[in-house]
Amino acid sequence: MDTSNPANTMKAAWIAKFGGPEGLEVRTVPKPRPVADQVLVRVRASALNRADLLQRQGKYPAPAGFPQEIPGIEFAGEVAELGPEVRMWKPGQRVFGLIGGGAQADYLVTPERLLAEIPANLDWTEAAAIPEVFITAHDALWKQAALRPCERVLIHAVGSGVGLAAVQLVCVIQAVPYGTSRTADKLAAAKHLGLQEGIAVGENLDEIASAVEKWTDGKGINVLLDLAGGPYVKASQKAMALKGRMMLVGTVAGGSYVIDSRHVMGKRLQIIGTALRARSLEEKIAVTQSFAAEVVPLFASGVLRPNIDSTFKMSEITKAHERLESNQTVGKVVIEIG
Ligand SMILES: NC(=O)c1ccc[n+]([C@@H]2O[C@H](COP(=O)([O-])OP(=O)(O)OC[C@H]3O[C@@H](n4cnc5c(N)ncnc54)[C@H](OP(=O)(O)O)[C@@H]3O)[C@@H](O)[C@H]2O)c1
Repeated sequence: MDTSNPANTMKAAWIAKFGGPEGLEVRTVPKPRPVADQVLVRVRASALNRADLLQRQGKYPAPAGFPQEIPGIEFAGEVAELGPEVRMWKPGQRVFGLIGGGAQADYLVTPERLLAEIPANLDWTEAAAIPEVFITAHDALWKQAALRPCERVLIHAVGSGVGLAAVQLVCVIQAVPYGTSRTADKLAAAKHLGLQEGIAVGENLDEIASAVEKWTDGKGINVLLDLAGGPYVKASQKAMALKGRMMLVGTVAGGSYVIDSRHVMGKRLQIIGTALRARSLEEKIAVTQSFAAEVVPLFASGVLRPNIDSTFKMSEITKAHERLESNQTVGKVVIEIG
């Protein structure tokens, strides 16, 4: 490819050096080309995730086939060009979705079935704040845990992006969301979205089971959405109801778990670990299609709303990483592109 021709290049966030945010740059790189069933998307916004921070630190490489130096696992943008086998999309349509990497750039290519159409009432920033957190919470709660009306759900790190999405999705099912956070202000934000009760936790995580006992009149939790990991998993087992489902999704508080057979076997609990990025293409298509069918219409009708903490330009990528790393965010950090 002739990269002296500007039509063949684009701007992209670039991990020049593993480590802190200062290792990030914006570079001019070759523009990708769509082949077969791929769509070329002109990216307009891409939200940041913990995965981007870990990739920048050299601890979480992008899956094979995706750019290793360009971060970004979700995007909103418009269809720019079509590979010869594309049947579902036309140039100019507004689309969003997940990708294994490379979303924080002017352009990306992705298979057509990994895209969903953005409802007309959402702007680029709002749309970019949706895919990762709502697909994760929808897949874990509605699909894998098969959440039912009136069930009681406990969400650890409820003020996180996934946590705030989960509160809304629990309310849509007419189940009851409870939550924990280390930061009281984040509980207030979650209550605004429908959180029934929450507890600001410190060192003593035994307080969680006592709070659940009080909130639920001793009935316990049917579905745990654990976005924290480590000691939170141990502390939650006592709070679970008979045949409860424990969805293990995040590890910000630790990656090793203590399992107590008195609770897990005695109450016949199910422990289900889940991750999106490492799934096969067909599995990713399945979650995207069920998100498009079941969740996107709820944004179009205004039942669901994205949660945005802050926005940055691509030239401010370093500041955006610092903001997410601060642990002070409530909702998504979105990078506006082009
Ligand atoms: N498995 C998957 O496919 C998948 C997909 C998306 C996200 N995730 C994971 O889900 C979690 C939430 O992601 P997100 O993007 O929504 O995150 P986020 O918006 O960045 O929020 C993470 C929250 O975790 C809490 N936290 C940080 N360190 C903690 C610690 N040591 N102990 C307890 N809480 C801590 C902080 O809230 P406090 O103020 O309460 O401390 C922080 O606001 C992350 O662990 C992420 O890696 C997994």
